[in-house]
Amino acid sequence: MLRDLALKAAENSYSPYSEFRVGAVLRLTNGETVTGTNVENVSYGLTICAERAAVVRAISQFGPKIRIAAAAIVNLNGKASPPCGACRQVLAEFIEPGAPVLFPVANGNRTMSFSELLPFGAEMKLK
Ligand code: THU
Repeated sequence: MLRDLALKAAENSYSPYSEFRVGAVLRLTNGETVTGTNVENVSYGLTICAERAAVVRAISQFGPKIRIAAAAIVNLNGKASPPCGACRQVLAEFIEPGAPVLFPVANGNRTMSFSELLPFGAEMKLK
């Protein structure tokens, strides 16, 4: 299951400051799956979230034309962890608007389409 891959990635979390262990998995339209986990930094601000780690890994492995068909986020702390605003904007670059995004909420999991999660993201159309 997609979530199981994210759980496995979360076990690799480097989160000595928050101890919040997050995992993300992306299913690409080419059928591949790519995972990521959060990598914290002593500066706090340089921390990389699991979702962005997965996006960077997907491009690195499969190139700039990838499209994300589905995403799932988990954490090992049993807490809610919807993707942060920065990660939503980074996902927007590569994800299908209708892609389901699953994430933990207070009492289980919730799935929303990406366009519901980020209805009015930044755009730049110069031409
Ligand atoms: N975190 C993620 O990995 N994804 C999110 O969308 C929200 C937050 C991480 C960053 C940091 O390492 C820890 O969770 C606490 O904020």
